[in-house]
Amino acid sequence: MDHDFHRIKRLPPYVFAEVNAMKARARAAGDDIIDFGMGNPDQPTPAHIVEKLVEAARNPRAHRYSMSRGIPGLRKALSGYYQRRFNVDLDPESEVIVTLGSKEGLANLANAITSPGDIVLVPNPSYPIHPYGFIIAGGSCRYVPVTPDKDFLAALDRAVRHSVPKPLALVLNYPSNPTALIADLDFYGEVVDFCRHHGIWILSDLAYAEIYFDTAPPPSILQIPGAKDIAVEFTSMSKTYNMPGWRMGFAAGNKTLIGALTRIKSYLDYGAFTPIQVAAAAALNGPQDCVEEIRKMYQDRRDALIEGLAGSGWDIPSPPATMFAWAPIPPAFAHLGSLEFSKLLMREAKVAVAPGIGFGEYGDGHVRIGLVENKHRTRQAVRNIKTFLGSYNRVLEDSEKARAEAGQ
Ligand SMILES: Cc1ncc(COP(=O)(O)O)c(C=O)c1O
Repeated sequence: MDHDFHRIKRLPPYVFAEVNAMKARARAAGDDIIDFGMGNPDQPTPAHIVEKLVEAARNPRAHRYSMSRGIPGLRKALSGYYQRRFNVDLDPESEVIVTLGSKEGLANLANAITSPGDIVLVPNPSYPIHPYGFIIAGGSCRYVPVTPDKDFLAALDRAVRHSVPKPLALVLNYPSNPTALIADLDFYGEVVDFCRHHGIWILSDLAYAEIYFDTAPPPSILQIPGAKDIAVEFTSMSKTYNMPGWRMGFAAGNKTLIGALTRIKSYLDYGAFTPIQVAAAAALNGPQDCVEEIRKMYQDRRDALIEGLAGSGWDIPSPPATMFAWAPIPPAFAHLGSLEFSKLLMREAKVAVAPGIGFGEYGDGHVRIGLVENKHRTRQAVRNIKTFLGSYNRVLEDSEKARAEAGQ
């Protein structure tokens, strides 16, 4: 009997599993691990959205199979959001689909459009479903190092010139997980021009559209004239409204791609539970002060972390958006690589982070710190890290001194 399944063989062991296992052992031994490892929002969904879910769930008519592509009211609410926020017109019938979280949409669109052997251009480091959605679907990835500037465009150009067959699609993700880089409209304009010229589809992941701080609100690629000819964009309720467990996301834009995703999903699912969709529509159509509060919460945590560590020997760029700090490994530890450094941090400072290598080969010089612990715990983590870095520097200095005294 064959145990060596083709698709499973193409999925490497999960890098984060090693850190997670270590975390579980430390906790079982009674350690209080401060956990910045996952991008899992820790706060509850705003009350008015939960109330709407409860109200809708009391209606027995809402208990039947729902609509695979999403109920009309929710597709309309998403197009209303695009109109208000980006000044982009979307036809809720043909240019919008509801997905079971944006992750499911990304994976199933990859599944819908990829033929075996197709090449897809994927940023690296990146959120794992960006490459693996296509790898599961039988495609191959050509990785493009992530930078939202001319270097990225030059790398993209090189990748296209040297790909045989010509790439099928390009994935973009700004604000980016894990790097927290942002893109502006000029950048999107150049990428759209480039991809139109080469006949390459664009899948843009805008999951962090509303999690931004001291920067202009992140734009949508669909604001670029003609983008709809080649691009779809994924958005998500998970971070904007603290709804990660609800599994609510969207794809919007190009009709052919939305049609392909609609078709494949019609075979796979019956859509999210209708009351969840009703509540999601209420979230999009209702008061938005909760989004402002969520943004403020992440900003406070970010400042506690970045300002707290400034001058400690670990200088981390302050992320302008997302719920992550992308932290270069301090020079004294750079030789360890991100997995060993993450383990050291957990052992010595009782702080869990995500090793950058888990997001791809170009991530190994960094660790990702998720802003998912409250301010108080974040400050505690800062103290632990400072103590660890202080004592480590002393150990290094002592050994240097001993070497000098021995005349080595
Ligand atoms: C860049 C990015 N895209 C998509 C997702 C998945 O979000 P959803 O909960 O909508 O599936 C995440 C979740 O962390 C993410 O970071």
